[in-house]
Amino acid sequence: MNCNFLIFCHIFFSMHLTHELELFPDHRVTQMLFKEVKNAAGLRQSAVEGKINGALINPTMLVNPFQVLVAANKAVHLQKSGKMKTRSLYSEIIFNLSPTNNISEAFKRFGISDGDDSVMVVVVHNKDESQLLADITAKVEGRQIPVEDVSSLSDSAKIKKLYKVTPQEEKCGTLLDAVVCRMATKDVM
Ligand SMILES: *[C@@H]1O[C@H](CO)[C@@H](O)[C@H](O)[C@H]1NC(C)=O
Repeated sequence: MNCNFLIFCHIFFSMHLTHELELFPDHRVTQMLFKEVKNAAGLRQSAVEGKINGALINPTMLVNPFQVLVAANKAVHLQKSGKMKTRSLYSEIIFNLSPTNNISEAFKRFGISDGDDSVMVVVVHNKDESQLLADITAKVEGRQIPVEDVSSLSDSAKIKKLYKVTPQEEKCGTLLDAVVCRMATKDVM
């Protein structure tokens, strides 16, 4: 199966990374990465209460920002077609990262836990909403680092185990290819 079916337009890069979704050009997906985070519990609580307009993801489960982009693209698509499996766009992004259809399992693995010291924040917005991004940044007690550095935080052993990546797959492609394929094919398994 060919999983290279999503093409994105990279429109802006600084500390955070913003992509325009090809099929939904009025939607942007921005990722922001933080380490040395001191208030993971408070952030998680705010997200549960809907006070943070973003998905909070555990970066140790991420290989590359593209993985998040695939999950966000699918979430927007399902929201437009009224076929989301969870309550909100942001929970749908977390659910889409998971290789299984168990929602609580997805949150356990890909959401943040109270003791976490790093977090990837994913925001879906229209055009330039720098205030929205600044509001979220202000809530995180931590140090923002470039989104591309997520690979330095990823736990590949845990990722390979969770996505059941075979040694065979690792030989013919990258870990990212295998992970994105697992995410894309979970509906048809
Ligand atoms: C889903 O995951 C949760 C948490 O890991 C687990 O307790 C539960 O048994 C799982 N449900 C199913 C149907 O597998």
